[in-house]
Amino acid sequence: MTIHPAKWLCHNSISAALLAALIVSGCVSTEQIVPPISDHLLTLAQDEGLSIPQLERGRLVYLTDCTKCHSPESVTRYTAMQWKEIMPRMVKQTSLNTNDRAAVEAYVTFILRSESLHSGE
Ligand code: HEC
Repeated sequence: MTIHPAKWLCHNSISAALLAALIVSGCVSTEQIVPPISDHLLTLAQDEGLSIPQLERGRLVYLTDCTKCHSPESVTRYTAMQWKEIMPRMVKQTSLNTNDRAAVEAYVTFILRSESLHSGE
């Protein structure tokens, strides 16, 4: 498969038609695929006693270190089960320190959980 940044995401997304509505300057907006810690998520994270700086750091790592070879992948495109297999494989390629590794894992786990809570509402 081609992993050219940006094109990769645009051309291979199964839900491309669905996401077409979200198209911003030729591709999907980063906010949609790598959600920022919004007010809503902030409250949720605080309720759960999570570290906000760690989650913010995790998102930053996701957007910088994790995009060296491909454009940012939609976090929720994969299930928690799939991420369990993907994350260790990708982390190994990324040469992250222990803190950044924990941060990116915490971020992805939190976003997945917040999504499942949301859809359960
Ligand atoms: C050294 C290059 C490189 C880095 C850095 C990298 N990836 Fe990847 N990633 C790949 C390649 C290549 C693929 C295509 C599948 C494969 O070959 O494993 C991929 C595929 C993926 C996929 C799609 C699922 C899959 O298994 O195909 C996800 C999600 C992903 N990467 C997330 C991440 C995350 C999160 C990080 C940061 C922790 C990261 N990647 C860092 C090279 C990289």
